Amino acid sequence: MKNPLEKCSIGLGITGSIASYKALDLASKLVQQGASVHPLMTDGATKIVTPIAFTAITHNSVALDLYDPSSDIGMDHVSVAKTIDLLIVAPATANTIAKMALGIADNPVTTTYLATESPVLVIPAMDGNMYSNKATQNNIKTLKDSGVSIIGPYKGHLASGLQGIGRMAATNEIIDYAKLIMAQNGDMTSYKIVVTAGGTKEPLDPIRVITNRSSGKMGFAIAEAARDRGAEVTLITSSTALPNIAGIHTVIAETADEMATQTKLYSKKADAIVMAAAVSDWKPTVASLEKIKKLGVDKLNLELTKTEDVVASINHQKLIKVGFAAETQNVVQNAKRKLKEKNLDLIIANQISQETPVFGADTNKVIFVNKNGEEDLPEMGKYDIGQLIIDRVKAMAHQIA
Ligand SMILES: Cc1cc2nc3c(=O)[nH]c(=O)nc-3n(C[C@H](O)[C@H](O)[C@H](O)COP(=O)(O)O)c2cc1C
Repeated sequence: MKNPLEKCSIGLGITGSIASYKALDLASKLVQQGASVHPLMTDGATKIVTPIAFTAITHNSVALDLYDPSSDIGMDHVSVAKTIDLLIVAPATANTIAKMALGIADNPVTTTYLATESPVLVIPAMDGNMYSNKATQNNIKTLKDSGVSIIGPYKGHLASGLQGIGRMAATNEIIDYAKLIMAQNGDMTSYKIVVTAGGTKEPLDPIRVITNRSSGKMGFAIAEAARDRGAEVTLITSSTALPNIAGIHTVIAETADEMATQTKLYSKKADAIVMAAAVSDWKPTVASLEKIKKLGVDKLNLELTKTEDVVASINHQKLIKVGFAAETQNVVQNAKRKLKEKNLDLIIANQISQETPVFGADTNKVIFVNKNGEEDLPEMGKYDIGQLIIDRVKAMAHQIA
């Protein structure tokens, strides 16, 4: 299983919040992930958004009325609860959260919540005072104590025109959490994987750094692919610009030295390490404590010192090591040399040139090189490359075991 939402059956409970129009986007994105989405609406929700919009997006009928003999839910009021893999209530009103906390089952959303044995994700959206009210806070605590996952709400502009806490979480974040929950059924749940990502930053002075063009996207994509298959993932990265991935333990390491320390530490307990970070080979011998001034200086000579190459030094019996080689010439030859020198199990080589803007792009064209030979892959999304790397890690782990 790759994308944990693919072929997943999701009950989407929509309640009477002004944010219920956002549930249309969520339904659409879930469908695009390959999930089968079954909308359930409260009366309040139907007064704000029409059910037909959800039918059009999900190609499934909307459960509206527990007592309608012509609807699926009318025949069996818990039919949806029995078949779904996940229930998402988004947006969740204060009223519905209160009913869920108390076990009231008077509409398709609350009945399905009470009857399902599947995981539940609740996305509150409401006015700031409704959210901070003690009753709502207690109800949310009750749901959390019952094992319900809750995302948000967040601070921002509210429908009342005020700024406050109550904004519904963004679609991408909800999808990310849904994936995290469903990844618990993945094929890599017993694996601990460390991934490094991004270009390191070596300080020249408190303001300036020497860095490189790596965005961190490749490493983040590998980490996400591993997370999606249930692995316990630690992501060691210098990139703070990319969004966090739910369920991944992210460690910020800015310099080559910090990257080395964290990599050594986390690889001790890992089954595999995938080093996609572009770690600087050099650092300024001395980083000035004050800003280097240009006044009266026409030329500035920098002395650089080699950084520690940790890859070769981290070894334990079962650790699978995957490296990257970005090269401008003799790509495969250089990759083979690095594979040997660094004692790697697999190296992902890519050609860097004017025509192939690898850095910052969402796709990459790589060659997998190991001791048995090489596999030249077509250009593909970085996430898909991440999935192939995890396939290889899994196969190698099986060989060792
Ligand atoms: C236009 C409009 C917007 C509303 N937005 C919210 C909201 O964002 N959050 C909320 O908790 N209640 C909101 N309400 C109040 C709920 O609709 C009301 O509490 C209702 O009883 C909720 O029923 P339900 O939970 O069964 O959908 C809104 C009401 C209206 C008329």
